[in-house]
Order: sequence, then C-alpha cells, then structure tokens
Amino acid sequence: MYREQFSLEGKVAIVTGGSRGIGQAIAEGYAEMGAKVVLASRKAEALEQVKAKIEASGGEALVIPTHMGDMDGIRRLVEGTMDKYGTIDILVNNAATNPIFCGTAEVEEAAYDKIMDVNVKGVFFLTQQVGKVMCDKGSGSVINVSSEAAFCPTPFLGVYSMSKAAVNMLTKVFAQEWGPKGVRVNAIAPGLVKTHFSQALWGNEAILQAALNSIPLGRMAEPEEMVGLAIFLASDASRYMTGQVILIDGGREISA
Ligand SMILES: NC(=O)c1ccc[n+]([C@@H]2O[C@H](COP(=O)([O-])OP(=O)(O)OC[C@H]3O[C@@H](n4cnc5c(N)ncnc54)[C@H](OP(=O)(O)O)[C@@H]3O)[C@@H](O)[C@H]2O)c1
Repeated sequence: MYREQFSLEGKVAIVTGGSRGIGQAIAEGYAEMGAKVVLASRKAEALEQVKAKIEASGGEALVIPTHMGDMDGIRRLVEGTMDKYGTIDILVNNAATNPIFCGTAEVEEAAYDKIMDVNVKGVFFLTQQVGKVMCDKGSGSVINVSSEAAFCPTPFLGVYSMSKAAVNMLTKVFAQEWGPKGVRVNAIAPGLVKTHFSQALWGNEAILQAALNSIPLGRMAEPEEMVGLAIFLASDASRYMTGQVILIDGGREISA
C-alpha cells in the first residue's frame, strides 16, 4: 500500500531547469518512479542529453525549450505538454537565475528585472496556467524550488534572496486558493547544493569553509539528495500536505 503511494506511474510532470543540477536529478528521479517528464530550460541540446539518459533507462521524456522570463514561451510549454499528453499532474518550478554577486548598492535595474522575471514572474504565470489544467480536473501537485536564502539573506545574493522569499509566499497563496480544488502547492528550500549555480560559493575556499562550519552535517548536498522530497511532494504519499516550504539544508538553519 505505501509503495503505491509513492509511485508516479503514468503521471505527467513538467520540470523547469531540467537540463542540469537539481532539476535534472528530479527529472530523472520522477522518470524512474514512472512519470512522463517534460524537460524545460533554455538550451535544447542539454535537454536532449537528459532526455536520452532517461530513455536509455526505460523512461519517457519530452523536450520543450523554454525561457522562464518569456511569457509566450511559458504558454508554449503548457500547450506543447497538453498537445502531447493531454494533461499535467505535476509541475516543478525549479529554474532560477542569479546573474550578479554583489552588494545591494551595486545592483542595476536590468539584473534586478532579470532575477524577478525568471524567479518570480515566470513561476507565477507558469503555475497559473498549469493550475487551470489541474483545477479543472481536481488534482495536481506543484513543487517550487525555493532556497534557504528565502529565510535568511545570503550575503551578495540580496535580490536573489528577495526573489526566493516571494516564491515562499507564492507557494502559500496558490496553496490556499487551490486547496479546495484538489491542487496542492509546496516548496523545497535547499541549502548549499553542489551545482553550476552555486559555484560562486563552493568555488571560493573561504566562503566554502565558512558555510561548512555552519552545516551540522559538515558538507554540501548533492543534487540527488533533493529528489526523495520532490518525489514525496509529487506523490499521493503527501496528499494531506499543502502550503509548506521544507528546508533541506544539512541542519544549517538550526545552528545559525
Ligand atoms: N545549488 C544550490 O546551492 C541551491 C541552493 C538553494 C536553491 N537552489 C535553487 O535550485 C534551483 C536549481 O538550481 P541548480 O543549483 O540546480 O542550478 P543549475 O545546475 O545551474 O541549473 C539551473 C537550471 O535552470 C535553467 N535555467 C536557468 N535560467 C533559465 C531561464 N531563464 N529559463 C529557463 N531555464 C533556466 C538552466 O538551464 P539553461 O541554461 O538551459 O536554461 C538549468 O537547467 C534554483 O531554483 C535555485 O535557486 C539552488
């Protein structure tokens, strides 16, 4: 009975930022659990490589190149998924950007807009459009990838921290509105995960050591360590859970 609750057999899942890092790991994990996975990020070639890996393991994937700052692109992602599969059961809003690493005094308007467009506006409108499909059929699970930076500002990542705080509230707003329609919305807030995205942190020995000193488990996470929670939140095993933002940070928050 409990094995079935965690199954994603036959479900259709969109994973943004599915070409590498946490999104790739989640996409591969979902495929292994039986879902058909729609891979969305900007670069088609990288997505095709993930699709090939999933198919080589017996899974099913569809590539729809998408820029999360482009509202027409977001519409095409939903339409393309519906054309191919006719439904959407799971949405993982994982793609995010952070083009700057500086104090707030140096932040320029273009960088501010880019972060907010991709990390907040894109997530809002993709969730809104996928939500129409899910609310109509009375079921679905949305999983937003937030950050520990949403709870405690990370130095030199101020606007990014603000954008992730907005993702936390967006999670709760949609969860409250759509709970009565059978659609759940939760978020995963990773700590330091070894990916391309976080290289400015782990690539700097002084920053890395300071971070490791504040993590009780004493190391960074690997992207694969985000997958178990992502499967749980997508599956029926979490069916009474909505509006939650869950930290996976090696215990960093409790020692801050
Ligand atoms: N790594 C960490 O320590 C950490 C910690 C907390 C939270 N997070 C969050 O985890 C999520 C995934 O990050 P990651 O660490 O796995 O980073 P990553 O390895 O750099 O992957 C980022 C993914 O997002 C895609 N992407 C970037 N900009 C995009 C855009 N404008 N439109 C569509 N796709 C875009 C990238 O593909 P393309 O280049 O092909 O677009 C890539 O697939 C993000 O939400 C990030 O904020 C990461």
